[in-house]
Amino acid sequence: MRLLILGGGWFLGRALIEQALERDHNVVTFTRGKSGSVVPEAAPHRGDRANDRDMADLAAMGPWDVVIDTSGMTPGLVERSARVLASEVDRYVYVSTVNVYQGWPTQPLDDSSPIRSYLPYGPPGESSADQYGREKVGCEQAVTSMFGDRATILRPGVIIGPHEYVGRIPWWLRRIAGGGRVLAPGFPDWPIQPIDVRDVAAFTLDVVEQQLAGSFNLTAPIGSATFGGLLDACRQATGGPAELEWVDHDFLISQGVREWTELPLWRPYPGTWKVDSPRARAAGLTCRPLTDTVIDTWEWLSKAGPQPVHERAAELGISPEREAAVLAAWDSRRTR
Ligand SMILES: NC(=O)c1ccc[n+]([C@@H]2O[C@H](COP(=O)([O-])OP(=O)(O)OC[C@H]3O[C@@H](n4cnc5c(N)ncnc54)[C@H](OP(=O)(O)O)[C@@H]3O)[C@@H](O)[C@H]2O)c1
Repeated sequence: MRLLILGGGWFLGRALIEQALERDHNVVTFTRGKSGSVVPEAAPHRGDRANDRDMADLAAMGPWDVVIDTSGMTPGLVERSARVLASEVDRYVYVSTVNVYQGWPTQPLDDSSPIRSYLPYGPPGESSADQYGREKVGCEQAVTSMFGDRATILRPGVIIGPHEYVGRIPWWLRRIAGGGRVLAPGFPDWPIQPIDVRDVAAFTLDVVEQQLAGSFNLTAPIGSATFGGLLDACRQATGGPAELEWVDHDFLISQGVREWTELPLWRPYPGTWKVDSPRARAAGLTCRPLTDTVIDTWEWLSKAGPQPVHERAAELGISPEREAAVLAAWDSRRTR
């Protein structure tokens, strides 16, 4: 098949290119060339989706069987891409997120849970996660209104694996490799369900090849992994002599520890990791064990040269001083 990837340079795009080429598809990628990483076997086309001329030039390179949009973050630009490409592609696969659901990140969810409303502006003080979810709803609507049953919407939960730019698993790997007493959030048996980027890519290409329409959550099975398993896998991968100190949710909250970012992947709500993906599972989604992902991520990190710094990486991780202070407060609480 002839595939156009709107994106292709960072994380999911890279995995898609590699697997699409393995499956003998013909791949064109479209990026501005800012992130600097290109899989050379795919045909890279340079341009900015915010630039009408660049989009018109891209459309003139059609037709394609499918466009896979990994880089669409704002409804206006996604609507523009969908409109320009509508007569040049048979199917538009849009990579959205579970943040579109009203109940994220506190409630259990499945494919039929209610999604947020799209409004061009959020309420004052809207969090970046809410803004992201609201705008992704607008992007989904732009694609479905233009492509109808030729649209496919993918809603991954947290994606991890080699080349992960947000840096969640890399942060834990480096922290565990650093050794010493590690502030471990909650409980070892707290369930988590991140999904490997290569499993997302494989399912995306299955959808493309089978021309599946509709929307699909993409998460590892509920309860398939635990936070303790994640940190043990980090110890196994790095050989780091870290000592895990599990500190309960309420205490972390009382210390003002920022959920999700200061201790990556930690949220105190049971619903965060209860996102079910029955449609994708029925369509063949398979997920590798978390330990394999962690080991492969460490292998990549150990060999990787300097990586592009993503804006979202800046907010990640607790400082050594603050980690020590929270642990000291935890110790004094127990000895009181
Ligand atoms: N990471 C997660 O945990 C997670 C979870 C759920 C959903 N998602 C979604 O999954 C998708 C993942 O994307 P990814 O970043 O891994 O994809 P990617 O295709 O690997 O990287 C995005 C590419 O888009 C290009 N790009 C950005 N803005 C552009 C523009 N205006 N015009 C042309 N190209 C542009 C960037 O290159 P240049 O800078 O060179 O242009 C980059 O190569 C996103 O839609 C995200 O919302 C992610």
